[in-house]
Amino acid sequence: MQLRQEQTGDWWEVEALFDLCFAPGREALSSYRLRDGVPPVAELCLVAPSIDNVLGGIGGAIRFWPIRVGGAEALLLGPVAVHPTRQGEGLGALLIQAGLEKAASLGWSRVLLVGDAPYYSRFGFAKADGVEMPPPTNPERVLIHALTDGAWDGVRGPVTAAA
Ligand SMILES: CC(C)(COP(=O)(O)OP(=O)(O)OC[C@H]1O[C@@H](n2cnc3c(N)ncnc32)[C@H](O)[C@@H]1OP(=O)(O)O)[C@@H](O)C(=O)NCCC(=O)NCCS
Repeated sequence: MQLRQEQTGDWWEVEALFDLCFAPGREALSSYRLRDGVPPVAELCLVAPSIDNVLGGIGGAIRFWPIRVGGAEALLLGPVAVHPTRQGEGLGALLIQAGLEKAASLGWSRVLLVGDAPYYSRFGFAKADGVEMPPPTNPERVLIHALTDGAWDGVRGPVTAAA
């Protein structure tokens, strides 16, 4: 499976995939307030082409946004989604691993997401004590991962938009 960087023309197809995969009203979530008016990190927005092209061109997608945590630079992972007919084949893991590896190669050291620990712990994410997402966010779902040793040491406080 060859992942490729999302292109400008992919935007609405990726949005349609997210609409299909997430509950209605996803853009009301507090994580979206961190994305308002801030472009994603283009090099880290990846798409997995659908194999047979029957579903349209895209079988899965991931985006990352720059954020700040207590003033320190970090990445917000997500949204990430895989078409319902392609879930459970490892595509989500492929997108996440590739995104994290590329982020490390570009010099990023901290990644945060809001999601299910039972899924994301396999990629090294763990609950973030002292990291305050804008409400309403369940603190149990705020997870962090260090791409370099000790990157989160002493980094605590409010999560804010990068701009
Ligand atoms: C979450 C998602 C991206 C995973 O993609 P995927 O390609 O299906 O995942 P993978 O094939 O890499 O991994 C599948 C494994 O993850 C598990 N898994 C998937 N979602 C999970 C979750 N929310 N919590 C716990 N485990 C989960 C599956 O049960 C499966 O387990 P197994 O390996 O023991 O069989 C995909 O299910 C999806 O798009 N879901 C809807 C959108 C969503 O919830 N996105 C994440 C928001 S935080």
